[in-house]
Amino acid sequence: MARDKKIIIGNWKMNLNVHESSLYLHKLSNLVKAHRDIEVVLAPSMLALQSLSLQVNLRQFKLAAQNFYWRDHGHFTGEVSASQLRGVIQYAIVGHSERRHVFYETDKDIRNKVAAAIRNDIRPILCIGETAWERSAGETVDVLRDQLIGGLSNITSDELKHVIIAYEPVWAIGMGQNAMPSDVDKAQKAIRRQIEHLYGTKASESLSILYGGSVTADSAGGYLAIEGIDGLLMGAASLDAYAFSGIVEKAHKGSDVAIK
Ligand code: 13P
Repeated sequence: MARDKKIIIGNWKMNLNVHESSLYLHKLSNLVKAHRDIEVVLAPSMLALQSLSLQVNLRQFKLAAQNFYWRDHGHFTGEVSASQLRGVIQYAIVGHSERRHVFYETDKDIRNKVAAAIRNDIRPILCIGETAWERSAGETVDVLRDQLIGGLSNITSDELKHVIIAYEPVWAIGMGQNAMPSDVDKAQKAIRRQIEHLYGTKASESLSILYGGSVTADSAGGYLAIEGIDGLLMGAASLDAYAFSGIVEKAHKGSDVAIK
């Protein structure tokens, strides 16, 4: 997909049971308008995906998994594979910092998941971002480079067309401490430079890059105004139907102040 659409993603994390998820989708369906220039993606818990896939209007929302295992089948008790999710979801979040830091996912796990998603016709949303410590040590660009190389090393330039990158600085997630648009702009430029280095100019220019980390209805417009930012990946704000639908409208209408 070229960068002709803004992508707005709600990561519900470990919130809402199956019943609550269904009610919440119903509420969102009434509030969020479908627009051709916006892709709205919902990432409920794994448990709710199947039932929401039967309820959802795919012209209004797409569904994403928050996680999955990279092998297609076998002796892996408790895991769900991308091949089992095929047809149920259109996107999958990969390498979220909560998975890297709480569940110790490695770059190898992450690159295997990116490849597994693609081979099962699911678009991976590869999350990358530095910790507070790495930021204060001035290592942001190095961390982004390492995580891009680590996550994409199985991916050909043809396959890269299906990948979305989400810049989610770890220090900004769930903290109420969001990044400045100027920091996000620097990060997206560093990501594009690295992709250009790995895959060439065309790939770098057509890559969709999202921002995530304590986005609110008030701060969303500032990120959406950045020319190189193609959408948002939200946690808390996605659980507030009014804030979320308002942010979708902001993405549709665009912003006056563009950061070049
Ligand atoms: P918050 O928007 O709650 O900071 O979460 C961001 C995030 O982790 C989305 O994946």
